[in-house]
Amino acid sequence: VKLWIGEHAQAVAEHAVDLIEQTIKGKPACVLGLATGSTPLKTYQEMIRRYREGRLDFSQVTTFNLDEYYGLDERHPQSYHYFMYENLFRYINIPRERIHIPCGTPQDIEAYCRHYDQRIAESGGIDLQLLGIGPNGHIGFNEPADELQAGTHLVRLTEDTIQANARFFPSIDDVPRQAITMGMKTILSARKIILLAEGEGKAMIIKKLLESAITTQLPASFLRLHPDVTILIDREAAKYLP
Ligand code: F6R
Repeated sequence: VKLWIGEHAQAVAEHAVDLIEQTIKGKPACVLGLATGSTPLKTYQEMIRRYREGRLDFSQVTTFNLDEYYGLDERHPQSYHYFMYENLFRYINIPRERIHIPCGTPQDIEAYCRHYDQRIAESGGIDLQLLGIGPNGHIGFNEPADELQAGTHLVRLTEDTIQANARFFPSIDDVPRQAITMGMKTILSARKIILLAEGEGKAMIIKKLLESAITTQLPASFLRLHPDVTILIDREAAKYLP
């Protein structure tokens, strides 16, 4: 695992987009794995900025998002579909047919999840996966548990994740209790992984991620088994590191 500490969140975002730019320049038809949540927002703004400057071209890029709330229609303002279009896709030149986000309302969940993994495999696999991390150590919505799932699957969110995500909803009762998420194998199959974290609220989990044993109770710890992971954090998230 490579660790890179930036002075502030903007520096982290710029470094993340440097790595994304390298990937796209090296392979214009690359496959990017994308995340939602607060953390990647500055990264997406920086991607939009470089697109407008003519430095980045998404015309051949394919994307796969990590997750979506179960039960939310793609037009729902709290859905991750809505988030991705509002915060990134509508501002860049990525063709709509190359954007993939798990469907929150599949008819046959099992079949849909297999189909999502198959689409990733058929696209040639993810070249660069962007990740955030939950304060409980989840990646995607792979929550701490006795067992983790390999492929894309329906998951029950933990109470702490429901609370952490309540800030985006009118009330905690409106937060979906389940989500469709890429599994651990799906994520760990990416050729390169960037995990972003910023702010004091992530300092403890970053310390644990780097120092604890590899355990299903801290799903992000499995990233330490991957040959090309870069953890990009700001000073505040690095607060408890030696
Ligand atoms: C989002 C995702 C989650 C978030 C994590 C951190 O697609 O997969 O794992 O990355 O919950 O969320 P923020 O960035 O809001 O702290």
